[in-house]
Amino acid sequence: GSPERVTPTGATTDVPATSMAQQGDYLTTAHGTRLTTSDLTLKAGARGPVLLQDHHFREKISHFDHERIPERVVHARGAGAHGTFRGYGSATKLSRAGLFAKDKETSVFVRFSTVLGSRGSGDLARDTRGFATKFYTDEGTWDLVGNNMPVFFIQDAIKFPDVIHAGKPHPDREIPQAQSAHDTFWDFVSLHTEAQHHAIWNMSDRGIPRSFRTMEGFGVHTFRLVAADGSTVLVKFHWKPHLGVHSVAWEEAQLINGADPDFHRRDLADAIEAGAFPQWELGVQVFEDNEEQSFQGIDLLDPTKLVPEEMVPVEPVGLMTLERNPSNFFAETEQVAFNPNNLVPGIDVTNDPLLQGRLFSYLDTQITRLGGPNWNQLPINRPHAPVNDMLRDGFHQGAVHSGVAPYRPNSLDGGNPFETPEDEHPFIDFPAPVAASVKERVRPQSFEDHFSQARLFWLSLSEVEREHTAQAYAFELGKCWDETIRVRQLRHLFAIDPALGHAVAQALGLPDQEPTVAPAQDVDPSPALSQVGGTWP
Ligand code: HEM
Repeated sequence: GSPERVTPTGATTDVPATSMAQQGDYLTTAHGTRLTTSDLTLKAGARGPVLLQDHHFREKISHFDHERIPERVVHARGAGAHGTFRGYGSATKLSRAGLFAKDKETSVFVRFSTVLGSRGSGDLARDTRGFATKFYTDEGTWDLVGNNMPVFFIQDAIKFPDVIHAGKPHPDREIPQAQSAHDTFWDFVSLHTEAQHHAIWNMSDRGIPRSFRTMEGFGVHTFRLVAADGSTVLVKFHWKPHLGVHSVAWEEAQLINGADPDFHRRDLADAIEAGAFPQWELGVQVFEDNEEQSFQGIDLLDPTKLVPEEMVPVEPVGLMTLERNPSNFFAETEQVAFNPNNLVPGIDVTNDPLLQGRLFSYLDTQITRLGGPNWNQLPINRPHAPVNDMLRDGFHQGAVHSGVAPYRPNSLDGGNPFETPEDEHPFIDFPAPVAASVKERVRPQSFEDHFSQARLFWLSLSEVEREHTAQAYAFELGKCWDETIRVRQLRHLFAIDPALGHAVAQALGLPDQEPTVAPAQDVDPSPALSQVGGTWP
């Protein structure tokens, strides 16, 4: 709903002019007094000292001094775009969420990102890419905060600071690891074999996408959908790009990063400006919601595992089109706050221990990043559904609440706000049964296999993709100075596949190694996992 406005650059924006400090034709101070000049300070004589009483000077400099906010602790570099999601109607039998209804249109904002680089880093780094979508539905905001890879490095959120500390720049020199030593990353990955599957996706061509427009997106975790009749299924979300999946070669990535580190954000903005609107189909893999929460031996709560699409095909549920660039990077792409907690009736979480930890982390970090608890009021984060939340005051409060009784029930404000009766469209916290005793810091047995899906991925690659992947390992491990770490990781590569281990060992000038575990024999070398197209159309 807000009226559209045209900015001086000709771009349109949702932000109504009246809400911004850009009213009237005359330059003023922040409190509205007209100014005769903003070019010279007030001095005692033309060549004298500057006076403390020059309020405009102090206001202008002081505001400038505080223009920056902290960058995201991860996914700091990104680019965003506005668009529309249109439901196909195929998911209404699975979920009561209104956005899945046939031809229902919902506004979205998407932010693509790299994970490890700082705000000013290059777009073509070998890294996972974030693919976060905010659906402004009539029933509240749903955030699908995914990545361009279907699995994650760790199985338990308590390890997140560890994996990120291992991948971020070394604390002494603050040089990104891609340009210097890789010891801590490979130390972590080789000591935590659960990371081997995500790591091989990173070493493959998937780690250097051609464009945001040619990336798949994955919700990674298993989610629960709740239908109108209360029945439930488990699902994994997938975004399929209409342009197909394409990557660049490592040498191309190096050249592009040097010549145009903004390559991906430029590509996205240029395409949208030219009317070549990128599109993704949203789909789900659907599983029975049973006590085991697993599918043919694959634990659906283990975020290091995928379910091959030949076993469970992706069923399309809607189409997303990105058709409008942000008109102000800060107000939109930087201030947007995604959160896996933002769910709507019909979409719920599961017990995946990585997802459970994320449910705490995003809200918590945004209180620091966006300066207090009121960032939901920022234009880009405002729900398109009515809000009446009884949250009050706090830093950066922009609302002036009325009434005297922000609690309920109350007998002073007419009892307002009212609760929705359960049968009218409540938010359902699905009553999933919980087994076992409290206080268990253990990993389930089903989380112990760390190699068979890394092998499945390797076997699914074409010959040239395998070459690229082995070369990437050799290049990256070649930057790892600690021989113990290199050999430890090499042993894992032999466990994934002896051919991979041998190719990398040879490139590093090291002898073949004993595999950590015997390579799994029973995985199906299915070609359909590999969808990296060779050339850009
Ligand atoms: C940011 C995805 C795991 C903490 C992000 C963003 C994405 C993302 C896409 C960028 C959002 C944006 O564009 O603003 C994922 C995925 C994960 C995962 C797919 C695993 C499957 C985790 C875990 C934690 C975590 C386990 C912590 C326990 C954060 C934090 C941010 C972030 C703190 C910064 C948010 C902000 O400053 O607004 N994540 N993440 N993530 N993620 Fe994750």
